[in-house]
Amino acid sequence: MKSHKKLTTASGRPYVENENSQSVGVRGPLLLQDYILHEKMAHFNRERIPERVVHAKGSGAFGTFTVTHDVTKYTKAKMFSEIGKETKMLLRFSTVGGEKGSADTERDPRGFAIKFYTEDGNWDLVGNNTPVFFVKDAKKFGDFIHTQKRDPHTNMKSPTMMWDFWSLNPESLHQVLILMSDRGTPYGYRHMNGYGSHTYSMLDEANQRTYVKFHFKTAQGIKNFTNEEAAQMKAKDMDFSQRDLMENIDAGNFPQWNLKIQVMTEEYANSQDYYLNPFDVTKVWPHADYPLIDVGVLELNQNPHNYFQDIEQAAFAPAHIVDGIGYSPDKMLQGRLLSYPDAHRYRLGTNYEQIPVNRCPFSTNNYERDGQMRMDGNGGGNPNYFPNSFDDMQIDQAYKEPPLEVNSHFADWYDRNCEGENDHFSQPGNLFKIMTPEQQQNTIHNIVTHMSGIEGPKKNQIINRQLSHFYRVDGRLGASIADGLGVDVDMEKLE
Ligand code: HEM
Repeated sequence: MKSHKKLTTASGRPYVENENSQSVGVRGPLLLQDYILHEKMAHFNRERIPERVVHAKGSGAFGTFTVTHDVTKYTKAKMFSEIGKETKMLLRFSTVGGEKGSADTERDPRGFAIKFYTEDGNWDLVGNNTPVFFVKDAKKFGDFIHTQKRDPHTNMKSPTMMWDFWSLNPESLHQVLILMSDRGTPYGYRHMNGYGSHTYSMLDEANQRTYVKFHFKTAQGIKNFTNEEAAQMKAKDMDFSQRDLMENIDAGNFPQWNLKIQVMTEEYANSQDYYLNPFDVTKVWPHADYPLIDVGVLELNQNPHNYFQDIEQAAFAPAHIVDGIGYSPDKMLQGRLLSYPDAHRYRLGTNYEQIPVNRCPFSTNNYERDGQMRMDGNGGGNPNYFPNSFDDMQIDQAYKEPPLEVNSHFADWYDRNCEGENDHFSQPGNLFKIMTPEQQQNTIHNIVTHMSGIEGPKKNQIINRQLSHFYRVDGRLGASIADGLGVDVDMEKLE
C-alpha cells in the first residue's frame, strides 16, 4: 500500500478533517475548539506582506557571473580576481510605478537588481535598464514617485501629475526622452540592457580609488514593443515578461548580459576639469570620452522554485558592497544607501538578511541579536557585546577605504542645478540626434499620445512649459510634438 504524508497543522498535529468544520449538528453553529479551522483562516489572512513601495511587479532568476577579462588593476574584489572565476547571483527585474498585479508591458523604466553572492559578502548592484535617472537629489525621489502612482483623488494614473512634475524639473529630460522612446516598452526583460546608473568606485590592491559606471549589455539584442504593441500585449497577457523569462530559462535558452565598465581616475573626477559632474545621475559619461571595458558575462540559468520565497522576499540594497567596490558622492546614491535597508526592515522585518535568498552563504559574525523571526541560532551562547574577554571577533583595518577628498569646508543646501550643472538639454539632444528616423517618429508619437492625457485647469501651462524644454532639446522635436498636440506655437506667443 502506498504510504501518504500526514496532513498536519503547523505545530505537527495530524488533521482529522480538512473540508468540514466542526459543528453542533448538521445545520448548527461552529465550535470554537476547531483549531484547524482557526489556523487555516488565520494563516491565510496573513499571506500578504507589504508590496515594494516602488518596483512592486517583478520577475527574477538565479544565475552565474563569469569573469572574462582582467580588471584587477581597478579592483581587488575577489569576484573579479581571475579570468574564469564564477560567482552565483540573483537578478530581479521589475517595472516601477505599477502595483504587484500590474501589467508587464507598461511604459516605465525597468529595474535590474543584482545580488552577487561573493565570498566577501553579498554585493547588490541595484540598477535600471537606463543609464540615467529623472532627478538628481534623493530628497526629490518621493515627490517624483507620487506622480508615477495613483492620483489621490481619482485613484487613477495621471499624465497631468507626471508632466506637471517633469515640466517643473527639467533635470528629468534625459530620462523622460528614453522613457518615451520605444525603450520605455521593452520586449520583456531579456532584450534590454542593465545599468548601475550611478557612479560607483573600485579599489585596487594598493587601495587606489577609481570611479566606475557599470553596463550590462544584453546578448539577446535590444528589442522593444511599439506603443500600440505594448498596449495590445497588456490586453492579451499582463504577465508577458514573467512568462517570457520563465519559459526561456525552463527551455534551456539562458539569457546573458555582458558586463562592461567605464572608468575615471579619482584625481580627474576631483579636479572638476571634466565638463560634467561625474556624480550626476541625470548624465551619462559619453563613450567617446570613456570607452567601455569588457569584464565578464552574466547568465540566468535557474528559475526560482518558489516565487514568494526567493523573489518577493529578495531584498537588494545599494549599501551592500564588498571589499574592492565602493560608493561615490552621487547625491541620489547617498540617499539610497539609507532608504533600501529601511524599506526592507519595514517590508520584511529586522532580520531580513536571514531569509535564505538574502543570506550571505559565507561567514557573517556580529553582535546583532534577537528581533522578530530570528532563526539563525542567534549567536547561541556567545557574547552579545563588544569588547569582551571571551570571543576573538576583531575588526580588520585591511578593508578600510582610503580617505575621501572633498572640495569644501562648508555644509549647506546647495542648488543641485547650480551654474555649470544646469545643462539639461545637450545630452537628450544628442540622444535624439542619434536615433534613426523611425525611432524619432516613434518617440514623438509616444510623447504626443502620452501628453494628450494632460487635463484640467493647468493643462495649457503644463504643456507649454514642457514644450519649451523639448524645443531646447531639439527644435524639430519641440515643433513635431507641438504639431502633434495641435498647439499653435505662434498663437500661444501672442496670447
Ligand atoms: C534616492 C533615490 C531612490 C530611492 C529613495 C529609492 C527607493 C527605493 C525603495 C524604497 C525601493 C523598494 C525596496 C523594497 O521594498 O524592496 C526601491 C526599489 C528599487 N529601486 Fe529605488 N530608489 C531610488 C532611486 C533608484 C534609482 C536611481 C534606481 C536605478 C538606478 C533604482 C532602482 C530600484 C530597483 C531596481 C528597485 C527594485 C529592487 C528589487 O528588485 O527588489 N532606484 N527603491
